[in-house]
Amino acid sequence: MNRKVITIDGPAASGKGSLSKKISKEFNFYYMETGIYYRGFAGLFYQNQVNILDLLSFISNLNIADFKEYVRHNNKKLYSTKVTKLASKLAKNIEIRRFIVKIQQGMIISLEKKFNGIILEGRDCGSVVAPEADLKFYLTASLKVRAERRLKQFVKEKKDISYDQVFNDLRERDVQDKNREHSPLQKPKGAVVIDNTNYNFEETINIVKNIIFSKIPTLKNKI
Ligand code: C5P
Repeated sequence: MNRKVITIDGPAASGKGSLSKKISKEFNFYYMETGIYYRGFAGLFYQNQVNILDLLSFISNLNIADFKEYVRHNNKKLYSTKVTKLASKLAKNIEIRRFIVKIQQGMIISLEKKFNGIILEGRDCGSVVAPEADLKFYLTASLKVRAERRLKQFVKEKKDISYDQVFNDLRERDVQDKNREHSPLQKPKGAVVIDNTNYNFEETINIVKNIIFSKIPTLKNKI
């Protein structure tokens, strides 16, 4: 069986991260969180106090292996509110997107043999990073429900933030991600749309697994 590529795109806090992690474990797929590279770029950009006018020379001097190592090493810090907002702003830039998409496409090609496939999760996975994917999903939920879920997560992590702040931050990111000129968040061509506003995590997993089994039956023997 050739190795399968599955993409899950959708707005922030739609549940695509947890879903992708769970599915990739069950199917022995490599899980690629594409947003972490935009967060990593934002972290480095901030740390180096880069002037936007020097962006091109900053990118051309960035070593890909060092960049990946920076992302791996700083993973936890890259979820701060500051980095999250900067990531979404910088993600509009075509040069930054080219740099990151090239890394991500390279990782699909050099996928380790031990995996049955790869799940990519983000905003442009089914449209730009892997337009030839075997199966594409677009996962969404109402802004209100996404804000409630994200707030629950923050409370668990003991982050001091109000519901209104979470709601407004998500709304702002939705607007930026959907309206940017390059690779805006959109339903990729051929994607299965799942609105999980009224489903809990287990129900969403079951819906997604059933679709995977019906579209790629060979994966039934892989779990
Ligand atoms: O998915 P996550 O919330 O970690 O992504 C952080 C930001 O990176 C998003 O708000 C979006 O602007 C950007 N992003 C993107 N394309 C992706 C993944 C993330 O533009 N494939």
